[in-house]
Amino acid sequence: MDEEHKQLFRMLNHMAAEVGKGEQNEDSLNESLDSLMAYSEQHFMDEEKIMMQHKIDNRHFLLQRMEHQSFIYDVTRMRSEVLLDDSITDRFEKLVKFVASWLIYHTLRTDQLMARQVEAIVHGQSPEQAYETALHSALDPAVGNKVLDAVLHLWTEAVERNQLLEQKLKRQILQGGTAEN
Ligand SMILES: [Fe+2]
Repeated sequence: MDEEHKQLFRMLNHMAAEVGKGEQNEDSLNESLDSLMAYSEQHFMDEEKIMMQHKIDNRHFLLQRMEHQSFIYDVTRMRSEVLLDDSITDRFEKLVKFVASWLIYHTLRTDQLMARQVEAIVHGQSPEQAYETALHSALDPAVGNKVLDAVLHLWTEAVERNQLLEQKLKRQILQGGTAEN
């Protein structure tokens, strides 16, 4: 799993480097994002398989599923929301930042919780016990700060995105259009 996480960060770095160079080739940026998303989906399936094999507590399984699915949903939605004043690089820069914050938050917090539970189950704890123990174990403070930064970024990003959408809708209503176009 760690190797897969590293690969995800490598793919993200590759995309960030393209965006950093001011890459204007939309096809190549889309290709990088497509491979990152395909790899993420495969990785989520692998994780879900491991959780099923170890009969991990359903509360954690559902949390993982929810986070995995909302990641795919958010990225898909962000890709389709092309705002008039957004350049290609701006759009991909936002995507890169979103994916980075999400990956940091998810791998350092949620996946760490999963790893601790799998380990406890392997050492003989019941899935319920393992869940409770993991939930009450503290995050390493250095990791905790990174997770907090990532959460703050995700949250600010969501607020900004909603404001932009709201402005877009208002403009459309003022122009006499409908919310659909
Ligand atoms: Fe996960």
